[in-house]
Amino acid sequence: MILETQTNWVSRSLQHVWHPCTQMQHHAAIDPVPLIPVSHGRGIWLYDMEGRRYLDAISSWWVNLFGHANPRINAALKEQLDQLEHAMLAGFTHAPVIELSEQLAALTSHQLGHCFYASDGASAVEIALKMSFHAWRNQGQTEKQEFICVQGSYHGETVGALAVTDVSLFRDAYGPMLQRAHVVSSPDARQAQAGESAADVALRAAADLERVLQQRSGKVAAVIIEPLVQCATGMAMHDPVYLQRLRALCDQYQVHLIADEIAVGCGRTGTFFACESAGIWPDLLCLSKGISGGYLPLSLVMSTDAVYQAFYDTDVRRGFLHSHSYTGNPLACRAALATLQIFADDQVLSANRARAQAIATAFAPLQNDSRVAHVRQQGMIFAFDAIEPDAARAASFSRRFFSAALEEELLMRPIGRSVYLMPPYILSDEDIALLAQKTMNVFEKVMHE
Ligand SMILES: Cc1ncc(COP(=O)(O)O)c(C=O)c1O
Repeated sequence: MILETQTNWVSRSLQHVWHPCTQMQHHAAIDPVPLIPVSHGRGIWLYDMEGRRYLDAISSWWVNLFGHANPRINAALKEQLDQLEHAMLAGFTHAPVIELSEQLAALTSHQLGHCFYASDGASAVEIALKMSFHAWRNQGQTEKQEFICVQGSYHGETVGALAVTDVSLFRDAYGPMLQRAHVVSSPDARQAQAGESAADVALRAAADLERVLQQRSGKVAAVIIEPLVQCATGMAMHDPVYLQRLRALCDQYQVHLIADEIAVGCGRTGTFFACESAGIWPDLLCLSKGISGGYLPLSLVMSTDAVYQAFYDTDVRRGFLHSHSYTGNPLACRAALATLQIFADDQVLSANRARAQAIATAFAPLQNDSRVAHVRQQGMIFAFDAIEPDAARAASFSRRFFSAALEEELLMRPIGRSVYLMPPYILSDEDIALLAQKTMNVFEKVMHE
């Protein structure tokens, strides 16, 4: 038997695996971006083929909630495997999807009582956009065809989701394919001018939204928002008053509000749904990533009864005929049920309040660091911006930080110069101290090299 080395795995991967969100040539360059073959995961750690470990400080693209190889989720999945791995969801149903839908509806106090399933986040966004458009059409409002998104928004990589995404790096190559949305001002609190509060910025941004709603009155189907934190644009955070204004404006102009909680849902921002901290509910809510504990691709759209009723009819064409082969997969739903059980058993939201406070304390030295701007936190999302006046160094900051972090046993991928943590909800006080120490070591190294 040939003993595979780490290097062999890397070269085999580069030969045949086309990696996501990656310029593949960068792995082959003179100063290559590292590619880590993962052997296994335990708790907050991922291990490579040579036994080196990496603290998963970003929950593997924001999906993992309770650590890798979580014994409770593993046990639930093993049991489900022997029961039912998959059955189609049209004409059939099963316990995991029913129980999950019931529990999620209850978490919204039945404001969002209907769950439609898919696999990845972008598919949920596609579904929400189509549902909004089609619901208005079914109600005779065929002119409502346009969408509004916020500056810097990110909703996924499929063609519909990219149309409401405002990150040019991901969007521009496909511009001619997209039915572009209206882009309104961002409520990002970092834009505060002297003397302005985060709430002032939010109200200014809401006024811009109102301007577009007025201009396009009767033409807009929905506004889509990442509540509280726009993650992919660099953890831009806003005041909850923005969401309250958004809800009021959507009611006033009779436009659906779509909350994309794919990244910020499942307790990331402090409450189970981010919208809860503003005391509002959207018409449609997208969930994915953490809902399966980071185990299996699962996404869903929750809707109000009003949206659901717009499709409820004897005519099949007025139904929502969207489908995916793996819609409501029982294994993924069972992982989600085990995840919700952990939330309840371990009182995770209240334990996370203490964790979030411990993170703030451990990273407090950054507040006085002149090379750092906008230290910010929303629940279990913590971020700061590195000040790097040199344009070339600023452009390479993220790549240099990622490589230096690996040497410190850390998995972190800054977005531009925004360094962030979005760790699993199992960090102990010792883990937090270690994470802070390692992050600051990496920051020193990257700023000095
Ligand atoms: C807010 C938001 N929406 C949608 C998506 C797309 O999800 P997926 O990558 O699972 O398609 C992401 C992914 O990061 C996201 O952060």
